[in-house]
Amino acid sequence: MTSSPPGPRKEATSEEGAQAGRHRRHGGRRGPRNRRAGRFTRHALGGPVHPARPWCRTASSCVRHPLRPSRALFIWWTPPPQRRFVLATRGHPMRVTRRGALAVGAGAVGLAGVSAIALHRDSFETTDAPAHLRGAAPMPFTQIHSLDLPTRGEGRAGVLRAAHRAIAAIDGGDISAWLALGEGALSSRVDRPRHLRKMPLFAGDVLDPALSHGDLLLHVTGSSTRTVRQAADQMLRALPQRQVRWRVDGTRPESRVEEGRGLSRNPFHFTEGHGNPATAAEITERATVRTGQGEPSWAVGGSYQVIRIIRLATDFWDRDTEEEQERITGRRRNGRWLDGTPSTERAVFATDPHGKITPLDAHVRRAAPDPRTPPPMVRRSYNYHRAADDQGLIFSCFQSDLEKGFEAVLRRLQGEAMAKYTLTTGGGYFFVPPPGEAWLSALTES
Ligand code: HEM
Repeated sequence: MTSSPPGPRKEATSEEGAQAGRHRRHGGRRGPRNRRAGRFTRHALGGPVHPARPWCRTASSCVRHPLRPSRALFIWWTPPPQRRFVLATRGHPMRVTRRGALAVGAGAVGLAGVSAIALHRDSFETTDAPAHLRGAAPMPFTQIHSLDLPTRGEGRAGVLRAAHRAIAAIDGGDISAWLALGEGALSSRVDRPRHLRKMPLFAGDVLDPALSHGDLLLHVTGSSTRTVRQAADQMLRALPQRQVRWRVDGTRPESRVEEGRGLSRNPFHFTEGHGNPATAAEITERATVRTGQGEPSWAVGGSYQVIRIIRLATDFWDRDTEEEQERITGRRRNGRWLDGTPSTERAVFATDPHGKITPLDAHVRRAAPDPRTPPPMVRRSYNYHRAADDQGLIFSCFQSDLEKGFEAVLRRLQGEAMAKYTLTTGGGYFFVPPPGEAWLSALTES
């Protein structure tokens, strides 16, 4: 499932041909936009692909969808072996130095004011649950910090212990905070969670190293930007020897709980969260490692956390009609299914085998094709807004088994209609240790 290294474009395979057909069905067919696109094919997020510029890599599943080149300036990082930032305007990519790209990027970043976000209390008791699974709805604001640990020795164990103490000091009340371990946090002597590894590069990803991976994730969520900022500042002050690798801030607009599920509105205007479990028991069941799973004993009660920083081409998305958007998603904006089934019930796709009502490549149909076996994961995502042309989803999910949860769903999503509006630029695989301190002793005393 990892993508192949960038290189000259090759002839379309039958699968690519099929994808091109799907793209035409979902808006690529619209004449004026295609005519203006000229000879460049491009991803909706600005990645032109030209045979003379094979170093210019974009999502392989999207390059056959021609869209009008935009006036916007795009910067992205091409992964090894190229290892360089690429700058593009109106379909003309240029190679630039890292310093130049950072200077332009810094100038482009603006602060998004977030206001009028309704805050709602959780619908079920939350006191016993670990911070990352507390309540039906996640707290509506977040700061996520990814740290690199010192390369060896007592320094690593010291930062780990200090981070655990700093998180424990701020968690509670209006704040839910937790830490999660990246694969680099565990020494080779430690019995590690079976699936914990560096997040692979999946097809279509263009991972920016400045937004990816890390040894330690510190996740602070809270009821307002002010409380989150204060708590995160306090936490960071307690970690003077920290090395922050990346940081992202997020919000959950219109955060609320309905019928036991935490809902919010994503940057594509759709309600997020209907497919999540509605009870604390189900959340625990899907998201928590149990004995008998072949995991080390210190990891039982913990969760695998996946973060994907997904840029969304909101500009292009907004040019599609609401009906087109709903066919790409597979639900109405308010969560109702396309066949009219209420949002709180499961749709039965078996009665629509050819995808006349819900297209076969619709997001929810690919994500959860069988209503009897919902994907074993709990999604708790946030929106981010770093600049006008850099906004999207901090997709975040928890599961007891990474392969059966996130990876199985992502495999099914390959080739979905939504792919041409999305670009994953960061994130990582992490493991949230169980409550208590036994894990800390297991990791730092071995
Ligand atoms: C690219 C950005 C994404 C957007 C805009 C998006 C949006 C949505 C929306 C609107 C829904 C329907 C409401 C809901 O159940 O929450 C949904 C459902 C779902 N999505 Fe995504 N999603 C994205 C990425 C992902 C990714 C990366 C995964 C996992 C690999 C994923 C997995 C799921 C699952 C499992 C469901 C629930 C399906 C069900 O049980 O009915 N999504 N998504």
